[in-house]
Amino acid sequence: MSDEVSKIFNSTIAAASISAAFEIGLLDALKDGRPLNVTGYCGEYQLDPATVRAMLYALASFDIVRLDAASDRAWSGTLFAEVFSTKGYFMWLVRGYGKMWQDLGVLARRGHQLSEPSNSDTAARDGMSIARASRDYGANFVDRHFDQLLDVEEFSVVADLGCGSAGRLQRILGRYANARGIGIDINSGTVELARDAVNRASGSDRLRIVQADVRHLAPSPQFREVDVLLCFFMGHDLWPRPQCVAVFRSLLKIFPAVKRFLFCDTYRSDAPPSSSLPTFTLGFEVSHAVMGQYIPTEAEWIELFEESGWYSAEKCPIDIPFSSMFDLRPISARRRSVADLPPKRALLAESDGHMKQ
Ligand SMILES: C[S@@+](CC[C@H](N)C(=O)[O-])C[C@H]1O[C@@H](n2cnc3c(N)ncnc32)[C@H](O)[C@@H]1O
Repeated sequence: MSDEVSKIFNSTIAAASISAAFEIGLLDALKDGRPLNVTGYCGEYQLDPATVRAMLYALASFDIVRLDAASDRAWSGTLFAEVFSTKGYFMWLVRGYGKMWQDLGVLARRGHQLSEPSNSDTAARDGMSIARASRDYGANFVDRHFDQLLDVEEFSVVADLGCGSAGRLQRILGRYANARGIGIDINSGTVELARDAVNRASGSDRLRIVQADVRHLAPSPQFREVDVLLCFFMGHDLWPRPQCVAVFRSLLKIFPAVKRFLFCDTYRSDAPPSSSLPTFTLGFEVSHAVMGQYIPTEAEWIELFEESGWYSAEKCPIDIPFSSMFDLRPISARRRSVADLPPKRALLAESDGHMKQ
C-alpha cells in the first residue's frame, strides 16, 4: 500500500483520538508542555489506561504528542499547538457528524432525507457536540474579531439566533455588566447544554435561553427591546433562498428595536478537490451536501442581504477558512439617516451607501 493511502487510513484514527483527547481533558492536561504521567492521570480522572495509551500512540504517530513508554510519560509534540487550537473542528467532525460518516453508504442509497435542520440528532448529527465544538473554534478563531466589531456601538439587549452553547452571549454579558441576552436554538440537546452553562455562571439572571425555530418566530414582548441580533454559523440552515429572505425580513418585525445584525457564516468555497483543502472546509461541504443543505457562496449572501431589508455597513474577516462576519443594518435606518441630512450630503451618502468590503 502506498504511503499516501496509509496516511489516509491512519489520519482517521488520529482525528478520532484528537476529538476524544479534547473530550476527556487530555489535551488541556498536555497544554503546558510538561510531561504527564499517564497512569497517574488516568487514576485521577477514572480513565481506562489501555485506551488512553492507545490514543496517545495514535497522536504520537503524527507527532502531536511524544511518548516515553519506559517512564510512562507523554508530552506535547511538534503539531500539538496547532491541533490544540483546531480541536473544535475535530470534535465537530468526529462527535458531531460521526454517525453520518458511518452511515454514508446507507444515506447514498436513501437520498436526501435529512434536509430539515430539525431537532432530531440521531439521524446524522449530535447537536450537543456540535455546539461544544463550535464554542471552541469560535473562541479560537472568531471572538477577538467579534469583540472589536461589537464594541463600536452601545447596546442593551442581544438576541443570538442559533445560539448553540450560548458561549458568545455569556462572553458578551461578562464584558458588559448591564447588557441582557436571549439565546434561541431549535435543538433540545443544545438548549439543555446552554441552560446548564447559564445556570452555573454568574449573571444568569440577565440571560434567557428559548427553544424555538428561527424560521417560525413570532413577535413577543421579550423581543421588543432587542437592539443587536447575532447569527453565527447557522444562516445556511435557513436556505433555500426564498425562505432565508423571508426569515431575514421577518426579523425586522419580530425585533422592532434592532439596530445591528451581526451575521457570520462559512460560505461555499467552490475550490477544486484537493487533499490540501484547509481543515474544516471539506468536512463542512460534504456533510451539508449529504444532508441536502445548500451552502451559498459569499456573493449569494451579499445579494440576499439587500433584498431582505438589510445592508452591510462592514465586512470583517475571521480566522475560519471561507467565512466572513458582516455588520448588517436595517435599510430603513439608512434611509432615515439620509433623510435627516441636508440635500447635498444626502446625495453623497446615498452614493457611498453601498457595501464596504
Ligand atoms: C454550528 S451551530 C453554531 C452555534 C453558535 N451560533 C456558535 O457560533 O457557536 C448552529 C446552531 O444553530 C442551531 N439551529 C439550526 N437551525 C436552526 C433554526 N431553524 N432555529 C434555531 N436554531 C437553529 C443548531 O441547533 C445549532 O445549535
